[in-house]
Amino acid sequence: ANGTTKAGKTRNIVEKMEESGKNCVIFYGSQTGTAEDYASRLAKEGKSRFGLETMTADLEEYDFEDLDSFPSDKIAMFVLATYGEGEPTDNAVEFFEFITGEGVSFSQGNDPPLGNLNYVAFGLGNNTYEHYNSVVRDVNKALQSLGANRIGDAGEGDDGAGTMEEDFLSWKEPMWAALAEKMGLEEREAVYEPIFEIVERDGLTRDSPEVYLGEPNKMHLEGEAKGPFNAHNPYIAPIAESKELFNVKDRNCLHMEVDISASNLSYQTGDHIAIWPTNSGDEVDRFLDIIGLKEKRHAVISVKALEPTAKVPFPTPTTYDAIVRYHLEICAPVSRQFVASLAAFAPSEAAKAEITKLGGDKDYFHAKTGAHLLNIARFLESVSGGERWPTIPFSAMIEGLNKLQPRYYSISSSSLVQPQKISITAVVDNQQLPGRNDPFRGVATNYLYALKQKQNGDPNPEVYGHTYEIMGPRNKYDGIHVPVHVRHSNFKLPSDPSRPVIMVGPGTGVAPFRGFLQERAKQAQDGIDVGRTILFYGCRKSTEDFVYRSEFEEYKKAMGDKFELITAFSREGKNKVYVQHRLKERATEINELLEKKAYFYVCGDAANMAREVNAFLGQIIAEKRGLSEAKGEEIVKNMRASNQYQEDVWS
Ligand code: FAD
Ligand code: 2AM
Repeated sequence: ANGTTKAGKTRNIVEKMEESGKNCVIFYGSQTGTAEDYASRLAKEGKSRFGLETMTADLEEYDFEDLDSFPSDKIAMFVLATYGEGEPTDNAVEFFEFITGEGVSFSQGNDPPLGNLNYVAFGLGNNTYEHYNSVVRDVNKALQSLGANRIGDAGEGDDGAGTMEEDFLSWKEPMWAALAEKMGLEEREAVYEPIFEIVERDGLTRDSPEVYLGEPNKMHLEGEAKGPFNAHNPYIAPIAESKELFNVKDRNCLHMEVDISASNLSYQTGDHIAIWPTNSGDEVDRFLDIIGLKEKRHAVISVKALEPTAKVPFPTPTTYDAIVRYHLEICAPVSRQFVASLAAFAPSEAAKAEITKLGGDKDYFHAKTGAHLLNIARFLESVSGGERWPTIPFSAMIEGLNKLQPRYYSISSSSLVQPQKISITAVVDNQQLPGRNDPFRGVATNYLYALKQKQNGDPNPEVYGHTYEIMGPRNKYDGIHVPVHVRHSNFKLPSDPSRPVIMVGPGTGVAPFRGFLQERAKQAQDGIDVGRTILFYGCRKSTEDFVYRSEFEEYKKAMGDKFELITAFSREGKNKVYVQHRLKERATEINELLEKKAYFYVCGDAANMAREVNAFLGQIIAEKRGLSEAKGEEIVKNMRASNQYQEDVWS
């Protein structure tokens, strides 16, 4: 690295902080935006409570040879997510390799190299994965061995247990106390200091050509979006087909075919597709209403960063409506820390007392709101009894809410069979919860459902969010479109088709296996020798939520005896039958296939199913090979390490 980027920006963090007058940098390694969001929250809190001059920094944008000149009166924080099988996030790979690498060398040659570096660390992980929070642990170890001085404990948040937010909150208080002591900081009454300035643009209307009304960036605004299409620039893909695979009571499952033929996107069987959702019209209205912006929703505004290191997370000039609809995660359950920061803007003394209590008392907060998954607008409504909160600055919402994130789906088609069309299989998230008169509805899946309704000319007025605006009111596209990008994954069929495969995929976990089966069926039809192909599939009832049933029959015709579908219907008999019970029934055969180097795949629920399948497989191996259970577990572990056991799971 030569120390600057093409644009002439420095890649030396010490220089950057010097230039911008900062004394605290919060580096983040983030994949889906959560770590980045936590970093921003630390930056904001450091500033408002302790008067620190903070900045956040994407690890990708800096070099690290200069960390040994980091001054001892400044502080570096690391907020690092662990991703997949113990890997750093894409933007942290270089940093991770550098800092944990052997023979790491720095510019100054001090001994110890990082003796001047004071740091703080927090990791985001998921304990359903084996390498729980390994990135923050490894980085912490490496920094320690380089002589750096950690302040407070290295915190760990657990997404698997669903306690990430509370883990973060309980880690940061003692950390701040230790930091305040170390750096001699005085805590002050937190005052809201905006990071973004909202400027109303009287000269512009929403018809003005430079105003963004939902387009993700300039190329889209100008109607000539060009690739490469990726996580920063989605492709607005036509939906070729959409239907429901089942619809019973209040559960339904979507199948969609997304056409990528007019883009330069490509995919491989087993990859993921990201869907960029739009918030439902109902929730956008609710949000704008409670903060008193409903009448002004279409006013044109520019959002400007008041800090040289802050980035406005969407294109401007735009409108309040467009920001809320396309860029803010307004439907997610509220964060306790964020709501506590809104007490100063309460519309009455009673509301102020209540929100202060909710912010300060974890148990009270969870009893009142946690179980109901209240989003910010619903939360504010419930605290004030419906009275509006017009004094909350809009900038506080931009700063305090997450950016609306794309959602990932396991591609359920084969790239060999349909290279230009990506299929998605998704259950619509729609939960009836106690204490609410309407269900909690997932953002992306209900958006996809609305697109499906629209495409099929079925504008069912009962459908929640029938006011979805697809790609803004200036939509230039004919037909129904959805913004997407493709993410490559390591979840792959063996390169040799004659190798046997065992797939375990209950519920929507069947998605990638439909792609695998399409592929193996095509290979068989083309006369290729395809190995034994077994799918363990589970759902509630054969008559209710059994997806792709007739397709499985087609695959059977193509593959003959090579293919076997083994089903577990959990709600047909007296006792629950799950895929792992079926695995046990087939223990002898499974073990033999594994000894013939069969690949073993698991997809779907990470929290329970995937763990149990892992444990059952260890038991099967132990029993059939006459080994101890510990030995069986170790064999499964080794299978994972060599990619013979592959997982594609989510919680
Ligand atoms: P959201 O609005 O994101 O809500 C989802 C859930 O999160 C809700 O139940 C809500 O209760 C909960 N929640 C959100 N925030 C909080 C919080 N702070 N505290 C407590 N609860 C919270 N899904 C499929 O259907 N098919 C697939 O093939 C598929 N493949 C996937 C592959 C990968 C690699 C990953 C990571 C996920 C996959 N998913 C798949 C899940 C999918 O990405 C979405 O999570 C799912 O569809 C729900 O999205 P949503 O926007 O509708 O719901
Ligand atoms: P249940 O809902 O009747 O308990 C797809 O969701 C299927 O996976 C359903 O049949 C569901 O059963 C089942 N399932 C639920 N928990 C599971 C677990 N821990 N292991 C395997 N399958 C499970």
